[in-house]
Amino acid sequence: MEKIDYEQLAQAAIDAKAMSYSPYSKFQVGAALLCKNGKIYTGCNIESAAYSPTNCAERTALFKAVSEGNREFTAIAIAGAPDGAEPNYCYPCGVCRQTLKEFAADDLIVIVAKTATDYRTHSFGELLPYSFGPDDL
Ligand code: THU
Repeated sequence: MEKIDYEQLAQAAIDAKAMSYSPYSKFQVGAALLCKNGKIYTGCNIESAAYSPTNCAERTALFKAVSEGNREFTAIAIAGAPDGAEPNYCYPCGVCRQTLKEFAADDLIVIVAKTATDYRTHSFGELLPYSFGPDDL
């Protein structure tokens, strides 16, 4: 397997954060999803005046990838922060973890990035242990 460029993926998530449409929460999130074939899909959070239709950055990236025929992933980077504030480590919400579970193996690498060089890495299995997924049906 090719070596993953964590900094590149973190930077792609940070860049995607700039596209965030978040007038209600004013919390901007970007994600970058690395496919096994090397392609990177990015996404941002997209909010709604009706609130609940809001889509998180991770799901935006995932839906873009899957809708273009990509279902195998090696890593996802996430960057989030309140508008204008110092970035902190932003972890994927429960809905995004469950949505990723559909396609992610336990060894998918999850990178939560403050900057391109200041990030934490986790395995997906760490973030969603004892999970329910396609293999359980
Ligand atoms: N958000 C994400 O995009 N990803 C997460 O994993 C956490 C939350 C978004 C949803 C909403 O637009 C804003 O951040 C505040 O919750």
